[in-house]
Amino acid sequence: MSKELKVEIPCSLIGFLKMSGTSAVLCLYLFYGLMQEAETSIPNCIPRKTVKYQNGNIKTFMKHRLSNFSTLLVNEETGTLFVGARDAVLALDLEDISIEKASVYWFSSQDRQQDCIHRGKGKGEWENYILLLHKINDTNLYVCGTNAFHPACDYMVFNSTDAHLQGKAEDSKGKCPFEPTLKYASLLVDGELYSATSNNFLGTEPIIRRSLRNHLRTDFKTSWLNEPSFVHMDIVKESESNPDGDDDKMYVFFTETAVEFEFYDKPLVSRIARVCKGDLGGKRILQKRWTTFLKSRLVCSVPELNFQFNILQDVFLLKTAGWQETIFYGIFTQQWGRLDISSVCAYSMETIQEVFSKGNYKGPVTMEHSHVKWVVYGGEVPIPRPGACIDNFARSFGYNISLDLPDKILQFARDHPLMDNVVNPVGNWPVLLKRGSNYTRIVVERIVGLDKKAYNVMFIGTDNGYLHKGLNCNGEMFIVEERQLFRSPEPVQSLKLSSRKGLLYVGSPSQVVQVPVSLCHQYQHCLDCVLARDPYCAWSQASAACVPVAKQIGDMQNLIQSIKYGDVSKCPSLGT
Ligand SMILES: *[C@@H]1O[C@H](CO)[C@@H](O)[C@H](O)[C@H]1NC(C)=O
Ligand SMILES: *[C@@H]1O[C@H](CO)[C@@H](O)[C@H](O)[C@H]1NC(C)=O
Ligand SMILES: *[C@@H]1O[C@H](CO)[C@@H](O)[C@H](O)[C@H]1NC(C)=O
Ligand SMILES: *[C@@H]1O[C@H](CO)[C@@H](O)[C@H](O)[C@H]1NC(C)=O
Ligand SMILES: *[C@@H]1O[C@H](CO)[C@@H](O)[C@H](O)[C@H]1NC(C)=O
Repeated sequence: MSKELKVEIPCSLIGFLKMSGTSAVLCLYLFYGLMQEAETSIPNCIPRKTVKYQNGNIKTFMKHRLSNFSTLLVNEETGTLFVGARDAVLALDLEDISIEKASVYWFSSQDRQQDCIHRGKGKGEWENYILLLHKINDTNLYVCGTNAFHPACDYMVFNSTDAHLQGKAEDSKGKCPFEPTLKYASLLVDGELYSATSNNFLGTEPIIRRSLRNHLRTDFKTSWLNEPSFVHMDIVKESESNPDGDDDKMYVFFTETAVEFEFYDKPLVSRIARVCKGDLGGKRILQKRWTTFLKSRLVCSVPELNFQFNILQDVFLLKTAGWQETIFYGIFTQQWGRLDISSVCAYSMETIQEVFSKGNYKGPVTMEHSHVKWVVYGGEVPIPRPGACIDNFARSFGYNISLDLPDKILQFARDHPLMDNVVNPVGNWPVLLKRGSNYTRIVVERIVGLDKKAYNVMFIGTDNGYLHKGLNCNGEMFIVEERQLFRSPEPVQSLKLSSRKGLLYVGSPSQVVQVPVSLCHQYQHCLDCVLARDPYCAWSQASAACVPVAKQIGDMQNLIQSIKYGDVSKCPSLGT
């Protein structure tokens, strides 16, 4: 049976099997069995439903001469979606993005444009692509643009009807990329800007820096950063009710050229790195440098098929009530082999902490011909642990701030930024695998189903303008639907969620669109509604309609939902 059944397993199959009385476990077994049997067959999720472009459910923002809507910032407090475009920042209504509240144009200056022409740059390159938008407070934003290869940042003041720049443009190397096509990451926390990008025009000085207040940066060493392509940065507030008196940490995600593997071709690896918020650098060694920079390899693979998803495309941090349950979701592709497969892997805080706070370090060993090999460091590790934040243990030695740390700890931290232990994904397997789509952006929302269980719903944008809604239930992956976002194919360049509004926002080269997290009413029958296995939707017997669960009040008894099994046995039989 298996060979005939072929590669593509509809992910909603389990629902049908359940209908016919076969157990879901059998399907799962088949699914894995198939994979192992046929080398060429690749686990793949087919969306249960494909919705072609229809403007009824999608709101669009487009404006004459405006393009490259690459940066989005959701502000739920003021009900505003801020959009960074080419030469402009827009403030749109979060409820309906076709309504523009205010806009600011910010062109690169004449002499910058002249300079660009002298450097032989063409049109489309001497513009100011707005790439960073950060909230300082409800009235002030920090904004950065490429400014014709001369990155500049400024403060923007906004009230509900007017927006303007303060004109305090400052030189902003290492905060914002020089070119709009380069990958970067940034974060603004407590008045400090954390940014990961290139520090120079040529791109030979990659940097993770902190600016605006306590300036700090990475060392310019290939052991720290080796031709990185930055993807994401986020904070985990680990200081909150922490028994060890530990600090908050910034996690940085990127792909870089590996120093630890020896292949003929330059192998790329995905990394998770972190620094501590309270880091102030060292006194003599690592002066004005991070003393807490540590990185590890982020693994996403299917060992059975020898798939190594080594190129990271995007990362989303699923925040939870307690930081311990925080989960990072990453989208990956491969450098070699099957380039048509995208995967999603999830990483728990527990694993990440284990690696950084208990793992072994890697160290350089010089071989013949002064060739350097990175191997697990077997020597003595100084105490307190190099690269650790200042915590109660460090304080017990009298080290209250990083400036107090002795030279030997700082030296070790400087020379051993890479962990030997790797960060493996939850379940040691991807949570989603998709063939034939190139995933570009992800957001995840946790939704509690009628069964009182939490489901992490993944919304993923593709490079041809689709939005996938996927889940992983106890190892079974499925895609509820794929939805076409634009009339003609364009890449999803930015994806943001407003949980409060139940809306997703998508930026692309030519437009911004808004789409609801769920469109339950598209399911017209009980069977359809329940088989969709959409955690946002349930069949209401009272109103004989597929309804959004969140909007229901009172009697939940009358609702039918079966996310895990797609069990339609409670549905009224057809024809009644
Ligand atoms: C917002 O931030 C700006 C810039 O730091 C500051 O001048 C202003 O007073 C702040 N406003 C409020 C309401 O906190
Ligand atoms: C917003 O700011 C503009 C210019 O500073 C001012 O004219 C306008 O009255 C302000 N609007 C509100 C609602 O505060
Ligand atoms: C660290 O703090 C403790 C308690 O506040 C203090 O006694 C000690 O002198 C401080 N150490 C340094 C090096 O400043
Ligand atoms: C995905 O990317 C590959 C390589 O860049 C390209 O050949 C392919 O056409 C893309 N697929 C889709 C569906 O856009
Ligand atoms: C900007 O948008 C235009 C079309 O809207 C696209 O052709 C161009 O590649 C974009 N530029 C960048 C740097 O993304």
